[in-house]
Formats: sequence, structure tokens, C-alpha cells
Amino acid sequence: MRLLSTAASEAAEGPVTEASCKYNPFSPSYVLDPYPTLAELRTKEPVFFSPEINSWVVTRFDTIKKVLRDADRFSARIASDPLTPLCPAARSVIQESDFDVPPMLVNNDPPSHARYRSFFSEPLQRARFDSLEPFIRQTVDGFLDRLATADRPADLVAALTWDVPALVLFKLLGIPQEDVGKVKEWASSRVVLTWGRPSEAEQFELSKGALEYFHYAVELVQRKAAAPGDDYLSDLVRQRDGDDGKMTLHEIAGIAFNLLFAGHETTSSGAINTFAALLRDRPLWERVRLGEQPMGPVVEEGLRFDPPVQGWRRQAKVDVELDGITLPAGSRLLLMFAAANRDPAQFDRPDDFIPGRRNVMQHTTFGTGSHFCLGAPLARLEIQVMLEQVAKRFPTLAIVPDQTLEYVPNTSFRALKKLLVQW
Ligand code: HEM
Repeated sequence: MRLLSTAASEAAEGPVTEASCKYNPFSPSYVLDPYPTLAELRTKEPVFFSPEINSWVVTRFDTIKKVLRDADRFSARIASDPLTPLCPAARSVIQESDFDVPPMLVNNDPPSHARYRSFFSEPLQRARFDSLEPFIRQTVDGFLDRLATADRPADLVAALTWDVPALVLFKLLGIPQEDVGKVKEWASSRVVLTWGRPSEAEQFELSKGALEYFHYAVELVQRKAAAPGDDYLSDLVRQRDGDDGKMTLHEIAGIAFNLLFAGHETTSSGAINTFAALLRDRPLWERVRLGEQPMGPVVEEGLRFDPPVQGWRRQAKVDVELDGITLPAGSRLLLMFAAANRDPAQFDRPDDFIPGRRNVMQHTTFGTGSHFCLGAPLARLEIQVMLEQVAKRFPTLAIVPDQTLEYVPNTSFRALKKLLVQW
């Protein structure tokens, strides 16, 4: 993450149109249900400028895929920059530190992206993920044992989906379980700092948190270098074989810092969004719990239907034309995966939850092309195990009716804060 970037404030202005006024990603009604607004915008002005976030918003499936596949004309550099450039006080917190992680994966471009991707994906293969399955099942069962004796109604986020992905990631990275609380807190702060709209006082506090979080990652990698174990970070340390030319420990710490965030907040939200969609459809839930509906397609449809990553950023390297609109070089783009995944030109009856739909795998939730999410198999596995175990052990589970749902307001992540359930 390039915390010190001021690019947002330097970006060229765009025209203010009807869509610009209609789109407010922080308004309570949009945060609660962005899909009707996105559908209208996709039809009327599929590409428009939003002064609210100083970015061009792109909503059509085909256009988004085209941008993601075109690394020559669209850079990923801004992918994890703060949406609002940091205030001077917050900037000085970062400037006076040793926080200088180079762009490596998600916010990097060719040619150096390929070198990092090849090194960091090498030990992150299917076998490593599959080896985590018994741990995932055991962890989920532990949470469900506690849920079984909890007061009813219970919050399914707090009871299950919030912690499981973090614990799995901790297992993958080889982090002590007692650290889960503080790392989860740092990760959530980072979502607000990067994709939200914190006040200056909040930016100051959140920047201190980001720094603490980075130092934690540095220390962790040093510990792995001193005593490697059976985990992903130790694999990376072994793979570099003491050779800074292959990868420095500082760069590995940068990846640990990014993975601690990338790999669980997203999966937590993917799981709870899918539970919410599935539990609302009682006949489908019935088929699922009777084993008549396989779970894999439910997971995939959940990822399409209500994606935890709603929008992702790119920057035009040259003047480009998208859906008839010319965007000058330097334009910042917010690619709305949430709109692409519900584009009727791509998906039939896009607003219906239909496990097993023909082309579900084409959804954009994990990105596309050279940056395609490296953790997708793990995220899918975790969500599947959570759904399977809950369906098996809580067959009468239902959403408490008439509760007020609350999502974290930001442009890119859709995270349900709480989901009350009874059984
Ligand atoms: C439901 C859960 C998840 C979602 C929705 C998600 C989504 C994404 C998205 C949208 C990207 C950027 C793609 C692009 O720019 O084209 C990405 C990249 C990435 N994700 Fe995930 N992710 C999830 C879970 C995970 C997990 C569990 C891990 C790690 C174990 C992970 C590791 C990564 C990494 C390393 C990248 C950077 C890849 C690159 O730039 O080469 N993600 N993810």
C-alpha cells in the first residue's frame, strides 16, 4: 500500500453528470443496498465521473473484464492507495517511520509484478490449501459447539464468520492464535483508512495502527527466518535461501502485511453475505440441508450475487475510450464488480440467487487476468466448510426477521456487521 500517495487529489477532474449526482457510495441507502442504483447507472451511464471519490466509475461486465485484462493501458498501482489522501498529521506518522514497502502484487505492474507473483505463488498451491481443510473443519466445529449453547438469537458474524478466516490465515502464515484479536482490529482499521472516509483525527490514529501492524509483520518474518516451521512464510524464507537477489526479508514482511489483510476480511464478508442470501431462500435452504443441492455452486453464486469486494481500482496509463467516453491518461477508475456481476447482458436473471447457473465462474469477484486472486481456492473452501457444517448442525437456522442490517460504509468492501439468527 502506498500510504503517502496524493494521487487522488492530483487526478484530473471529470464532467459532472446525472450519474455523478446519483452515485454516493457513502449514503446510508446505497450502503444498505447498492444494487438498484448500480443497475440504473449501468443502463443510463455505464461510465461516469464521480467527484465524490475523484474517480471514473465503470459498471458493465464486458468493459470491466476488458480493463482488467489490459495491463498495457491500465495500471494496478493505485489498487490499495487511500481513497482520500492522508492529512499532514497522518502523513508524518508514516514519513517518520521505516514503512517503505515496494509495490509487489496487488498494486504492481509488469514487468516486476511477474517476478513477485512467481516467487510468492510458488508455495501457495492447491496442496497447501487442501492441507488446511482438517484445521478449517475443526475450527468451524469449535465455534459451532459454542453457538449450540449460546443465547438465542445469536449474531452469526461474531459467532462464526468473523474469526474463522483469520484463524485459517494465521495457520497458513504460522501466527500464534492469541494474536488474532489485534491483527483483526488492525486489518479493519486498514479498510477504513484505505477505502473509507476517516476524519483527520481518525486518520492519525489509523496510521499509527497501520504502522504497528507493519512492525508486527516485520518481526514475524524475522522469527520465521530464525526458526522456520511448516507454514507459508517459512516456505518463503526457505525459498529465498538467504539470497536478497531472490527476495529480501523486508519484501516478505510486506507480503505478510498484505496477506494478513487480503486473506480474511474478504473471506469473512464473502461467508456472511452468502449465508444472508441462502437463509432468505427457505426452499433452497431446505434442499441444501437435505443434501439435494451441492454446496460448491451455492458458494460460487454467493460470491457473484453479493461480492465482498464490490469495486477495485485501476488507473489509465494513456488516453482511453470506454463505452464511448474518453478518459484522459491518469484517470482513476473504480471497476464496480458488484455491477458487473449483476449485468443482465452477462447473467440471466442477475438479481436472483440461482446456484448452478451456467456461467457463474465468469463473475469478477476475484478479479481477472494477471492479478487474479491467489487465495481464491482457500476462500472458496472456507466458505463451503462454514456453510456445510452450519447446514448439518443447525437445520432450522433462520434470520431473525425485521432486524436492521448494517454494512461498513466504503467504496470497495461489503461487510455485514451483524446477522442475528435463531434456530
Ligand atoms: C472471498 C475472498 C476473497 C476475495 C473476494 C478476494 C478478492 C481479490 C481481488 C479482487 C484481488 C485483485 C484482483 C485484480 O486486481 O484483478 C485479489 C488479489 C489477491 N488476493 Fe484475494 N480475495 C479473497 C481472498 C483471498 C485470500 C484468502 C488470500 C490469501 C490466502 C488472498 C490473496 C490475494 C493475493 C495475494 C492477491 C494479489 C494477486 C496479484 O496481484 O498478483 N485473497 N483478491
